[in-house]
Amino acid sequence: MTGLRLERDGPFARVILDRPDVRNAFNAELIGELRAAFEALSREGPEALRGVVLAGTGSVFCAGADVDWMKSAAGMSVADNERDAAALHAMLAAVDRCPAPVIARVQGAALGGGMGLCATADIVVATSDTTFGFTETKLGIIPAVISPFVLPKIGESHARALFVTGQRFDAERARRIGLVHEVVVDEGALDVRVEDLLGELRSAGPTAARSAKALVRELRTLNPEEARQHTIRHIAQQRTSPEGQEGLGAFLDKRPPDWSA
Ligand code: COA
Repeated sequence: MTGLRLERDGPFARVILDRPDVRNAFNAELIGELRAAFEALSREGPEALRGVVLAGTGSVFCAGADVDWMKSAAGMSVADNERDAAALHAMLAAVDRCPAPVIARVQGAALGGGMGLCATADIVVATSDTTFGFTETKLGIIPAVISPFVLPKIGESHARALFVTGQRFDAERARRIGLVHEVVVDEGALDVRVEDLLGELRSAGPTAARSAKALVRELRTLNPEEARQHTIRHIAQQRTSPEGQEGLGAFLDKRPPDWSA
């Protein structure tokens, strides 16, 4: 039985966690399905796929790793535990590296691994009553695999304060620390805002949006001189590309660019 639902609306895909009975907690099966879904989406070109919405069925976006599944880890070997953790990393990396922009639609709660998923999205919109938390330490475990994705978003200061306590916090604090980008009043407003953002993506150059996203990730590991060379090369390529020429020409001609039709 699958714990994931996929929907498609032209150039926009929806990847929907679908285990509402356990608040969309992910076990090995769902982790594998999420990874496969994002790897398949990552093979699509910029015209075919211009955005992905990551969402969860029911009252809660994602309650993190499935506690039943994690408890069974005690009976597994160290090597099996490491394989499980590597699979979780591969899933988060697949979302993080998805070339198309990813919007997380968050309601109810995002806890533990659910925070990891939020951190791998480009834009996170949440309802004001959503509860957030790196709750792992409350369960006697640690937010290990999610941390390489979370730290670039919230920084060491917030990570240390929130990791050690495992405390739960509200959407406004999640927005202040950079994990969430926008807070809306309810799920109706959430759907409206997600649609607005898809409209924004529709009017952004398909390869430009992808290149801009990739650039941010690439800069993480470059030294200043490498970053200088890389960014110079990147903008020169994009400016002279058919898309760059179309976008600049459309602005000067006072007409919409061909990709926004
Ligand atoms: N893993 C497995 N099952 C989970 C789960 C998880 N992470 N989170 C919730 N569930 C299950 C509950 O055990 C419960 O099962 P039951 O109906 O068989 O009793 C069901 O989902 C509903 O949970 P409940 O707590 O009654 O729902 P709620 O809507 O009142 O609260 C949460 C939702 C997410 C706020 C709450 O379930 C929660 O805090 N979960 C713990 C999440 C967590 O700490 N995750 C970090 C893991 S590292």
